[in-house]
Amino acid sequence: MRVLVIGSGAREHALVLALSADPEVTALACAPGNAGTAALAEQVAVDLTDAPAIATLAAGWSADLVVIGPEVPLVAGAADAVRDAGIACFGPSAAAAQIEASKAFAKDVMATARVPTAHGELVDNPARLDAALAHFGPPWVVKDDRLAAGKGVVVTEDPDLARAHAMGLLDDGHPVLLESYLDGPEVSLFCLVDGSSMVPLLPAQDFKRVGDGDTGPNTGGMGAYAPLPWLTQPRRFADEVVERIVAPVTEELARRDSPFSGLLYAGLALTSEGLQVIEFNCRFGDPETQTVLALLRTPLAGLLLATATGTLAQHPALEWSPGAAIAVVLAADGYPATPRIGDVITGADGEGMLHAGTRRRADGAVVSAGGRVLSVVGTGADLDDAREEAYRRIAAVHLLGAHYRTDIGLAAARGQIAAPATR
Ligand code: AMP
Ligand code: GLY
Repeated sequence: MRVLVIGSGAREHALVLALSADPEVTALACAPGNAGTAALAEQVAVDLTDAPAIATLAAGWSADLVVIGPEVPLVAGAADAVRDAGIACFGPSAAAAQIEASKAFAKDVMATARVPTAHGELVDNPARLDAALAHFGPPWVVKDDRLAAGKGVVVTEDPDLARAHAMGLLDDGHPVLLESYLDGPEVSLFCLVDGSSMVPLLPAQDFKRVGDGDTGPNTGGMGAYAPLPWLTQPRRFADEVVERIVAPVTEELARRDSPFSGLLYAGLALTSEGLQVIEFNCRFGDPETQTVLALLRTPLAGLLLATATGTLAQHPALEWSPGAAIAVVLAADGYPATPRIGDVITGADGEGMLHAGTRRRADGAVVSAGGRVLSVVGTGADLDDAREEAYRRIAAVHLLGAHYRTDIGLAAARGQIAAPATR
């Protein structure tokens, strides 16, 4: 099977790594890729916003399967274009990708499907902002209705900050979604969906804030771990999410003539009032994928092809390694505001080093090329072991001004997270 992966993050490096270990895969390419994927897959340049160009590339490269990592090409219609070219594609249509691209659309789907989520109010007129803010908070949850790479959300106790973020978005012409605050631990549950069948992967947790102790601004994700030792009945939990959340949303999307095929990512809060949806994404999460795929034993290409071709129901049950995995993101100086790029990175070649914002310079040096530079993965018999390995690995990386969180998975490893009863 010739597999083309679209994207350039550590998530795509994790996908390429898992695909390269699948004996069914005879050729692998990654577009545009990074310095890490280039060691495992052919590297091809492509504009991620150009759906026809992605389809042309897939056809020219004779791909049997195209796996689209990021949301941007999906929202631009890349999966539609690839399928129109007669090539199997892992990823939803542009219409179904609206579940991530428009928070207002997602809210509407959830309301119709009776899926529990925060109460929300969409504001597109500055004159109505203060009245709307008065219906919420503290804390206030202020969201960009459009795609913002995880950085469009401000959760704050400070009314002036909430108002300033909302005004900034409105000034840029973006509608603003105000939401009621959801308490409780967060879970990312990925679910493969082929239109009718649904297969949940291991639950994971990611860390959105830039600093230790969940301080500082939201980012694209600073780390993750899987599975969740504090989730005492993970299988029952996953089944419940499928039954109460993923299945009704999938059915509602089909009813709207936008059937979902690919990976539906449910971002959940386990609140004192039960399971609530924070958001949906229409693709593998980054950095959770780096941990989930580190534990997946089932060959990945066959699984993604079964999803893409609507044959998940016939696919054997998934097999997982026992133990735990964590990913710690090494970010460039200045991330998330204005990351500094172009600095030489050393020590990033070994095992567990998944590249994101990296590129190889003409002189052979690997240099930083984005805000999130590496995801450093560790695995082990338990979370403590996995943490030990990941932090030992990341300590050997050198990049001027780089920073990372030191507390990824720490509270869980110490038994400090408790899940409220979900039903
Ligand atoms: P989102 O981009 O919607 O996933 O939001 C990014 C992060 O903001 C989430 O992972 C949560 O940590 C936080 N967040 C979003 N919505 C809420 C909410 N309604 N209540 C509490 N925290 C939230
Ligand atoms: N981990 C958050 C995301 O992928 O959006």
